[in-house]
Amino acid sequence: QQLQMNLEQIEKGGYDHFMLKEIYEQPSVIKDTYRGRLHANEGIVQMAGVEDNIEKFLNAKRILIVACGTSWHAGLVAEYIFEEFTRIPVEVEYASEFRYRNPIINKDDVVIAISQSGETADTMAAIKLAKENGAFVFGVCNVVGSSISRESHAGAYTHAGPEIGVASTKAFTTQITVLTMIALRLGKAKGTLSNSDFHAYLQELEIIPEKVAEALETNDRAKEIAAAFKDAPNCLYLGRGYNFPVALEGALKLKEISYIHAEGYPAAEMKHGPIALIDEHMPVIVIAPKQGHYDKIVSNIQEIKSRSGKIIAVVTKGDTQVRELADYVIEIPETSDALSPLITTIPLQLLSYYIAVMRGCNVDQPRNLAKSVTVE
Ligand code: AGP
Repeated sequence: QQLQMNLEQIEKGGYDHFMLKEIYEQPSVIKDTYRGRLHANEGIVQMAGVEDNIEKFLNAKRILIVACGTSWHAGLVAEYIFEEFTRIPVEVEYASEFRYRNPIINKDDVVIAISQSGETADTMAAIKLAKENGAFVFGVCNVVGSSISRESHAGAYTHAGPEIGVASTKAFTTQITVLTMIALRLGKAKGTLSNSDFHAYLQELEIIPEKVAEALETNDRAKEIAAAFKDAPNCLYLGRGYNFPVALEGALKLKEISYIHAEGYPAAEMKHGPIALIDEHMPVIVIAPKQGHYDKIVSNIQEIKSRSGKIIAVVTKGDTQVRELADYVIEIPETSDALSPLITTIPLQLLSYYIAVMRGCNVDQPRNLAKSVTVE
């Protein structure tokens, strides 16, 4: 028993849970994801699976992304990045819906399947359906040799290392890293991304690990806020643009490990109903970095404040405007709008982790959940 305990402790690298270890591994595993693929100084970003099929990507009339859960959220971030950088229409589908709704699939579609485990039954079924209809399937998986990686025509591994915690963390940020590199490669080739923007994004992506490490320094702040909200019965997460999917992801993290009902919403959507939920008991987490619809999200925060909602805002270091309105602020380093999800998600991972720990939940193996949903 004691040996087993020690072995676990060694595997956790001294962290109390695998989830916390994996949150802290993100600076180094993002480097592992882009190692050998991103050469910012030479202005090169390339992955074998993409290069070998570059014509399919460049001629794609549409990109379909199929995934589940956190991987589906990474797909939503990719939709914004791909459309911004490549102007190729992107549609993101829950794999479980896609496989049963008799979808339209064209031969010149590129289907990107995102799956950490590479064993998710719904995603596998979606891939099979896409292949039956002649589409090219590209897999983004974390487990080498997994079923989905073998079923796909080509792919790129995230190289995040084993993700043990059921709640996905480093898989999410490394999936976004891979998808961003693909979008950069295609945007450059299609000329839809200017040379200067291309090089700027390469440089920024290369230093993202340092910014993730800096975002991890919000750890104590997240713990302090967790103590204040660990007994909240509900929670709202709001974001706009690239950070709307991060709001969904932050809510999923909280739901699955702390069992608090949480919902992510596009911030502007609040006035179409959900704002009726706001009262002094409702914590509202707002992702409000300087880049990206800042003024609009400030007015969304004012709307919530005027209804006495409790506001926790993720802001860019040095922010002054939101600070005046929010009850709590978590400061993160400045990034471009497009790369901000890699950073804004970090404090949300930490916040949900500490709330779950303070509630005495089984963080690494939450009730009713499996790490990979290999059944329908
Ligand atoms: C995320 O924290 C969950 N563990 C779950 O939603 C997961 O992302 C989903 O089941 C998809 O798993 P996959 O990436 O292995 O396909």
